[in-house]
Amino acid sequence: MSKFHLIDHPLIQHKLTIMRKTNTSSKDFRQLLDEISMLMGYEVTRDLPLEEVEINTPVARARVKQIAGKKLAIIPILRAGLGMVDGLLNLVPVARVGHIGLYRDPETHLPVEYYCKLPPNIHNRLAIVVDPMLATGGSASDALRMLKEKGCTDLRLMCLVAAPEGVEKVQKDHPDVDIYCAALDECLNDHKYIVPGLGDAGDRLFGTK
Ligand code: PRP
Ligand code: URA
Repeated sequence: MSKFHLIDHPLIQHKLTIMRKTNTSSKDFRQLLDEISMLMGYEVTRDLPLEEVEINTPVARARVKQIAGKKLAIIPILRAGLGMVDGLLNLVPVARVGHIGLYRDPETHLPVEYYCKLPPNIHNRLAIVVDPMLATGGSASDALRMLKEKGCTDLRLMCLVAAPEGVEKVQKDHPDVDIYCAALDECLNDHKYIVPGLGDAGDRLFGTK
């Protein structure tokens, strides 16, 4: 079974509370998501392997550490996942970015695929899938499946707000993928929105409603 990591740092919780408020503007929502993504990225990358290397400082020769192992890819699920990319790129500027386009059908609430463009060597990278909302889990589960079909074996999922139903689905479909999240909310409503959640993340991020 994969691990569920709840990242409850006070700065993240405070910023998320502002994001949840109905009256928070798109500009503030975008900026807060960007800031939280960077803070969450610190935890998502906490266990990256290190290797020792020898370098010359201006004072002495030294054995120091650098990140070893697989290079990173950040994979936002369009649209709302786009708001989490820059925060991670601030931490890992050399990461490649792939895009997966999925939208939820308003009637069935099932994800519909409309775009997929990934870095060529994606199977050799640690792929961090990002999407602020993990509701039914359908979109995240499909995105992870698409990446596995391209040969990815090392995957993580980073969300802002999750519903228990979404966590359960991803853990069932992808027991090898750890989930990182800033809040585990109560439930889904009849429209499969997270309660209390923050509404439609894509619309709030881009001001489309
Ligand atoms: C939202 C959200 C997730 C998905 C979560 O996207 O950003 O991708 O819903 O729901 P699920 O867990 O039930 O699949 P949406 O389909 O609204 O598209 P958008 O980002 O383009 O607005
Ligand atoms: N998508 C969103 O943007 N918000 C939800 O609460 C559920 C799905």
